[in-house]
Amino acid sequence: MKPRPIVAGNWKLNKGPAEARAFGEALAGRLGDVPRSKVDVIVAPPFVSLPALKPQGFFSGAQDVYWEDKGAFTGEVSPAMLKEIGVDYCIVGHSERRQLFGETDRTVNLKVSALLAKGIRPILCVGEKLEERKAGIMYNVVRFQLSAGLFDVSIKNPEDIVVAYEPVWAIGTGNVATPQQAEDMHEVIRQSLEKRFGIDDGGRIRILYGGSVNGDNIEGLMDKDQINGALVGGVSLDLDKFISIINLIAKREK
Ligand code: 13P
Repeated sequence: MKPRPIVAGNWKLNKGPAEARAFGEALAGRLGDVPRSKVDVIVAPPFVSLPALKPQGFFSGAQDVYWEDKGAFTGEVSPAMLKEIGVDYCIVGHSERRQLFGETDRTVNLKVSALLAKGIRPILCVGEKLEERKAGIMYNVVRFQLSAGLFDVSIKNPEDIVVAYEPVWAIGTGNVATPQQAEDMHEVIRQSLEKRFGIDDGGRIRILYGGSVNGDNIEGLMDKDQINGALVGGVSLDLDKFISIINLIAKREK
């Protein structure tokens, strides 16, 4: 049986507390008809909007974290602080952080471990650049990101961690990966996870696809065996469009 799917919205640098509060209330109302057992919904706003979101029937996620609990680290936010305000998930290693803010596989690994130690579920992002795909090295790139990001990491339960495959060339471009391109990479990721965590746990970790997901392409992606949901950027800012993706996925679950 496929694991319960996830629809996660990554708001990036959008929506302050007032907008987050309104969105959270409206989303909670609209999710009333969607059975909780069918799909896990996550919303990841900017840090300052997390307390206003008040997740009900869905989960909250941060977009980044630092790995130390406290200290002289100006501008940073710790896993303990996220835990204190009830954050459930945290995106780590998003390609925008890797490309624009110097995130490395080493810092990704420190963040994943620090989050797990506090009981927050990391959403570990991996994905190749266009030139890496053109050079045919995309599977090796992603295998390396995974093994480095998960170095020395242990989990108690397959739901403790989520992997998101986000090809850089598909993010914010409208160039969604074909379902088969995504599935081929998800199979590579699945094999790595099974090797790393064993067939049982590795076989049930949720692997999301991200990159230009919308209501028109989500079903083709979800038809694939190893695609367990979506990490949605731009479209997650629009409540109606976000809900329609959630409903399309929930409808498919028996
Ligand atoms: P878009 O859905 O806007 O392409 O963004 C994807 C993404 O980066 C989610 O983390």
